[in-house]
Amino acid sequence: MYRIVKKELLAPTLNLFEIEAPLVARKALAGQFVILRINGEGERIPLTIADFDRAGGTITCVFQEVGKTTKELGALGEGDFLQDFVGPLGLPSHVENYGSVICVGGGVGVAPVFPIARALKEAGNEVVGIIGARTKELLFWEEKMRSACSELRVTTDDGSYVRKGFVTDLLREAIEEKKNTSLCVAIGPLPMMRAVCSLTREYGLKTIVSLNSIMVDGTGMCGCCRVTVGGETKFACVDGPEFDGHLVDFEEMARRAVIYKPQEQLAVARYVENHGHNCSCSCGGGR
Ligand SMILES: Cc1cc2nc3c(=O)[nH]c(=O)nc-3n(C[C@H](O)[C@H](O)[C@H](O)COP(=O)(O)OP(=O)(O)OC[C@H]3O[C@@H](n4cnc5c(N)ncnc54)[C@H](O)[C@@H]3O)c2cc1C
Ligand code: FES
Repeated sequence: MYRIVKKELLAPTLNLFEIEAPLVARKALAGQFVILRINGEGERIPLTIADFDRAGGTITCVFQEVGKTTKELGALGEGDFLQDFVGPLGLPSHVENYGSVICVGGGVGVAPVFPIARALKEAGNEVVGIIGARTKELLFWEEKMRSACSELRVTTDDGSYVRKGFVTDLLREAIEEKKNTSLCVAIGPLPMMRAVCSLTREYGLKTIVSLNSIMVDGTGMCGCCRVTVGGETKFACVDGPEFDGHLVDFEEMARRAVIYKPQEQLAVARYVENHGHNCSCSCGGGR
């Protein structure tokens, strides 16, 4: 059993958990993820390792409540236990001194991009960080990201904080300014990563994205997380989750992401009915 030692609400329906898992913390590297189960009957869900404390033996995960399992997880508190917490899974980020890199985090993607930006800076890179959210109250880890980057640029879609615009607007400016940029790392919602890739393709700037295809076993056996990269079939859980964004078939990914939508909607409706979940997200529980 794995104890939740810290819980923080970063924004409405956006939770941070610090989980006691010394064996995972000992080996965790930027870019990897865990698969957890709340209880014996629970669904397995993958979450990125947003931070780790080897000495303290803890892993930090940041998750958005989007469906039944993440809502159930969000209802847990400090001192509660998770049944299973398997990891670190997936290939770690490739970290070397490229010179100058840009790390883009959109929405909840700020959490997974943080350890990558930190590792790239520690490797000697100049790291320009770009973070964005729909609105001010959804923006988190600004100071943490600032500490991991040489320079941080911030935007909100609605202009409620710093400036109005999408991360791609800031990315274009940064690429134009920093002509020597060798790599872009972008993590966030699928449409954001896709938009980043079409922009960086214009500039011939190599771009790494982290794919959150639906996963079940996380060991390369079930095929659920299948993605097409450069015309080849890859399993995001063992071949990724990071891939060259210019080679990813985003259209196929978007189609596969909604395969279980009817079942997901039913599961969350049942959960809300049984638990009277009261929230401001799109589940309908707060209405
Ligand atoms: C490698 C990886 C790392 C991830 N890291 C994070 C993270 O750090 N923070 C975070 O908030 N989310 C992360 N996700 C997504 C997270 O796993 C899903 O939001 C979660 O599984 C949804 O479960 P649910 O029952 O609450 O919602 P559901 O009702 O099952 O689904 C709601 C939405 O989540 C997607 N989804 C459902 N199951 C999965 C699954 N097993 N894997 C991926 N997507 C799924 C669905 O397509 C749907 O759009 C990650 C996914 C992957 C593959
Ligand atoms: S999750 Fe089963 S093969 Fe990747």
